[in-house]
Amino acid sequence: MCLNDKLLTILVTGANSQLGNELHVIAPQFPYCQFLFVTKAELDITNFNSIIKYFKGHSVDYCINCAAYTAVDKAETDEDQAYLIHADAVAILAKICSQNNAQLIHISTDYVLTEQPHNLTKKPIPPTR
Ligand SMILES: NC(=O)c1ccc[n+]([C@@H]2O[C@H](COP(=O)([O-])OP(=O)(O)OC[C@H]3O[C@@H](n4cnc5c(N)ncnc54)[C@H](OP(=O)(O)O)[C@@H]3O)[C@@H](O)[C@H]2O)c1
Repeated sequence: MCLNDKLLTILVTGANSQLGNELHVIAPQFPYCQFLFVTKAELDITNFNSIIKYFKGHSVDYCINCAAYTAVDKAETDEDQAYLIHADAVAILAKICSQNNAQLIHISTDYVLTEQPHNLTKKPIPPTR
């Protein structure tokens, strides 16, 4: 999967995460890809100007977003920050990816859903704001 002999550039946000570290481990198995692992300190996904600037400086083909608010209990009270990272920032990231012809891959979790099969035509769980 190589575009005209050009390495595919894969940006990994939230690279210090458990998921990001796993990607780091398997990255050498994909020699046709150039991975750009960026930590929160290097690229905060809630800092939209920084994301725009980063995409201007790098030709990104795919962005794998590993940034997350994973303090599950704290997220119950720190709702604004949880929504900012998981919803608002991801929406902007998707828009910036689209504007730069990059594909966004966002890894979610089944923890936010009930144990019942979730019918996507029903109201989202948790509710959107
Ligand atoms: N771990 C699993 O087994 C698992 C399973 C299924 C799905 N997932 C999903 O995979 C994603 C990552 O989970 P994880 O367990 O790997 O997370 P994690 O180890 O708790 O790491 C979360 C990372 O996100 C970074 N981060 C937080 N806010 C950020 C921001 N504004 N900008 C950039 N980076 C930010 C944190 O940086 P700092 O460390 O600097 O704060 C941290 O490195 C989540 O969506 C999760 O639901 C994980």
